[in-house]
Amino acid sequence: MASKKQVAMIVGSLRRDSYNRKLALALRDIAPEALALEIVEIGQLPLYNQDLDAEPPAAWLEFRQRIRAADAVLFLTPEYNRSVPGALKNAIDVGSRPYGQSAWSGKPCGVISTSPGALGAFGANHHLRQSLVFLDMPCLQQPEAYIGGVDKLFDAQGGIGNESTRGFLAKYLATFEQWIARTGQG
Ligand code: FNR
Repeated sequence: MASKKQVAMIVGSLRRDSYNRKLALALRDIAPEALALEIVEIGQLPLYNQDLDAEPPAAWLEFRQRIRAADAVLFLTPEYNRSVPGALKNAIDVGSRPYGQSAWSGKPCGVISTSPGALGAFGANHHLRQSLVFLDMPCLQQPEAYIGGVDKLFDAQGGIGNESTRGFLAKYLATFEQWIARTGQG
């Protein structure tokens, strides 16, 4: 069997009990066999500052390397004030530099946004997509994934307790696998 596609999951929340992190972990249980999903952490990244480009922090270099090594990227994000959290934007900026050597370039990606509220972080989802266009990341368009009521989604074991949402996310990941095959670099 061909080797699994490595999917770097970027979780937009730094909160210890983050629903987005919970969801990222739960997705590993319902992902297609051909995908290996792993969280790449962003909380340790110093704030992007162009002055540091000459001598980049080790955490930046390691992060860029991990993104480069991935076949695809799956973003899981909450919404902060109708946009993405600063930590996520920082990770995007760190990965995008030095100029002309963006680690994101050409990587297939998907966006799943969540909120305890009903709108499923639609605003954050689409603000994120604006950056992904500029970063030249082919982004899965359908199905869209706005997960509302995320605070009630999980069972006691951390699994996706809602059957219909679990089915939807399994289908999302199956479509994402096909998307990576179609638009990926190898
Ligand atoms: C929020 N939250 C929020 N929710 C939403 O649906 N739209 C929004 O614009 C905001 N804005 C916002 C700003 C800030 C600064 C915080 C801290 C929170 C609520 C948010 O959805 C909720 O805290 C989630 O639980 C955050 O995701 P994690 O940390 O559980 O992954």
